[in-house]
Amino acid sequence: AATAGAQPSASPGAGEADASLPSLTVLYGSQTGNGEGLAETLGEKANALGINARVLDMADFKPRQLKSESFVAVIASTHGEGDPPDNALDLYEFIHGRKAPSLKHLKYAVLSLGDTSYEHFCQTGKDFDAAFARLGATAVVDRADCDVDYDDDADAWFTALLEQLQNEAGASGIPTTSRVENAPAAETATYSRRYPFMAEVLDSQGLNGRGSSKETRHIELALEDSGLAYQPGDSLGIYPQNDPALVAAIIEALALNPDAPVTAGDVDTTLAVALKHHRELTLLTRPVVEKWAALSGDETLAERLGDNKALTEWLYGRDVLDLVQGSPVNSVDAQTLVDTLRKLPPRLYSIASSQSAVDDEVHLTVAAVRYENEGRDRGGVASTWLADRLTDDTAVPVYIEANKHFRLPEDDAAPVIMIGPGTGIAPFRAFMQEREEREAEGNNWLLFGDRHFHTDFLYQSEWLAWRRQGLVDRIDVAFSRDQGEKVYVQQRLRENADDVWRWLERGAYLYVCGDAERMAPDVHQALLDVVMQESGKNLEDATDYLRELTRQKRYQRDIY
Ligand code: 2AM
Repeated sequence: AATAGAQPSASPGAGEADASLPSLTVLYGSQTGNGEGLAETLGEKANALGINARVLDMADFKPRQLKSESFVAVIASTHGEGDPPDNALDLYEFIHGRKAPSLKHLKYAVLSLGDTSYEHFCQTGKDFDAAFARLGATAVVDRADCDVDYDDDADAWFTALLEQLQNEAGASGIPTTSRVENAPAAETATYSRRYPFMAEVLDSQGLNGRGSSKETRHIELALEDSGLAYQPGDSLGIYPQNDPALVAAIIEALALNPDAPVTAGDVDTTLAVALKHHRELTLLTRPVVEKWAALSGDETLAERLGDNKALTEWLYGRDVLDLVQGSPVNSVDAQTLVDTLRKLPPRLYSIASSQSAVDDEVHLTVAAVRYENEGRDRGGVASTWLADRLTDDTAVPVYIEANKHFRLPEDDAAPVIMIGPGTGIAPFRAFMQEREEREAEGNNWLLFGDRHFHTDFLYQSEWLAWRRQGLVDRIDVAFSRDQGEKVYVQQRLRENADDVWRWLERGAYLYVCGDAERMAPDVHQALLDVVMQESGKNLEDATDYLRELTRQKRYQRDIY
């Protein structure tokens, strides 16, 4: 992988840095590898043009340093309710804080990564842009707000930015033929998000006992001959297939021919195949609704677009079939339908195995998402495909999404506290497999929760065996529906505040995996309470304490 961190990223074969060109600092704030990958690509392209570029994780960049930068490119993703990712927090707060300096000397550009299925689409990028502008910095190219299929938009933004950088130097003497278009991109001969590996399914089993209200599966895929390698903490990207019944219903509702020829991106295919493999059907996003409002002339739809909150509420639980049935069009051709819909993005799953234990395999823990809305049964695209529609010869298109923000301590003696209710347990199974292989001596403490002890203790026998064997020192469980009152993992944290604090003071690493919307904030609050209670700190100091843990990579989260 390309190097990040405090070193300038040198690209092999890059020309000498041209002193007449401004130097560029590329800062990425992103929990997943996407932002980092784009930042590395930009750095390589810039270096290839003779621009002195360095690429840094925002967490490794001292905010005060902004005073001495001349040109900064920010690549930032957005989380949850429009929040910045953990590694962007320091810089984000610095430029929004009272002590933020004037940045009149600074030129900048922002690329935001986001997902149009969230209300606060690309909010972090928008915030960086607005804050830099407010502090007097000059945007040299327009901010690009990218949806999950960001490749083309990011390429266009790179081109515009690099041209601008070259123009900065005026007639710099660089021949136009060596300009952006011809910059060599990093070619890696491995499978990737763009070129997924077709993985064979080795095993798929239900993890819940009979009578459970949950449907969680353990899935094993073969990576044999792929050359793909992963670390505990990484995720697997999967390109799913839509339910053929949903595809057929949409085609029928619009009275189209499933065999009509269409182009989807760079693929020539039929309408039915395009909808099954290449277009998002189970989720609706604002740009899709905008296009459909124009096609259908439906005024109610147009009104909904005027109120973001109401729109988000309405979109929740609705899909493309609701849209085409609810707002009929006089006629639409197959190609227009395909062009109206969003590209089907891959889904990420936290890997549940360690390669040092399972070799050429990769294991996943997948909860089937099923619900009913408006009198129709619906399901999550990837989880129901994996649960219901795999056949003996299905190949699953996969790639590895590295997550360097969710890593076991390098020090095998460091204690680890793992908080992972539901499928949040997945990466911790990988952690324990890895620590077992490494014969790591550090203590391990699992806090797990799910609905019922009898049916929902995921990988129970493995965890109990690790406990007996002494690899795992402690397991605290919270089965929420085994008694009248709900019990969650954060209650176990509070009940054991003294031990949690003792472990932290001994240098423990804290990991949280699972639900981002409610669980992770509730657990964060419980951790603040534990720190305040045990150390006597006030809320502000306890917040600083957890922030410092984050900085030291001792508080890491993989939440979704
Ligand atoms: P519930 O479904 O009974 O509310 C895994 O899904 C487990 O996480 C379940 O036991 C679920 O409980 C629980 N859970 C739900 N909301 C939670 C929250 N805010 N914090 C922690 N756990 C939660």
